[in-house]
Amino acid sequence: MTGWTLGIIGGSGLYDLQGLDGPETVTDTPWGKPSAPVRTGKLAGVPVCFIPRHGPGHVLSPDAINYRANIDALKRAGATDILSLSACGSLREHMAPGDFVVVDQYVDRTKGRASSFFGPGCVAHVPMADPVCSRLSSMVADAGEAAGARVHQGGTYLAMEGPQFSTRAESRLYREWGCDVIGMTNMPEARLAREAELPYASVAMVTDYDSWRAGGEDVDVPSILKVMQANAAKARKLVESLAEAMAASPRTPSPDGIESILDIAIVTPPA
Ligand code: ADE
Repeated sequence: MTGWTLGIIGGSGLYDLQGLDGPETVTDTPWGKPSAPVRTGKLAGVPVCFIPRHGPGHVLSPDAINYRANIDALKRAGATDILSLSACGSLREHMAPGDFVVVDQYVDRTKGRASSFFGPGCVAHVPMADPVCSRLSSMVADAGEAAGARVHQGGTYLAMEGPQFSTRAESRLYREWGCDVIGMTNMPEARLAREAELPYASVAMVTDYDSWRAGGEDVDVPSILKVMQANAAKARKLVESLAEAMAASPRTPSPDGIESILDIAIVTPPA
């Protein structure tokens, strides 16, 4: 045991992970039901727990996902760190379909999603300037390269509400804002992981160029599905490589202080 328990939230195309043959654990939380019961097992000897974000059979739209329940369920299952895997559109020519982007910043344009564990009775403001764990992100980038993916280390993810894709004007605007990729699910996930004191890293797997390019192309589900299969195969290899790296190095606390972030976040005095 090296102290790691890897929590994984699988996105479009990644509804299971071979080799996870332990019991299904957390099926419910105080926040409601997660997208699916947490699947557990070991990879390279490292405990792993897994939730398919959209539920088995992809039945949950991005706005219908219970993000609080998913993060809470992984925490209850013992996750020490969370890897988010998701499909995304690219807003940059050099981030091509099939590439993996290890996200390091977010612009959040989601609307009305339950995005905090705190509220009336206990107010907290966690720092989000650096929204991902630097150590986990760098391990994930190495694992992506070991898996044979073309990896971009760092990128700004525009989280849109969806479920419709963007208009051309929106797609072009997000490029002007400095965003690199676009998706519908990393927010409020990253915020909630921070509130839960869980180091979080995200691999956004490019499936398309959204709709900003000259030439009038746009994005649709059939073209996304074609790329998604290949991305999912590489993502499975990435997870194996990451588990091997974790097996080889005992876990120490995140260098970013994430496991004790609430020490500097809660405003409400204890009752
Ligand atoms: N997921 C995959 N491609 C996407 C796109 N272009 N916009 C939003 N979410 C996506």
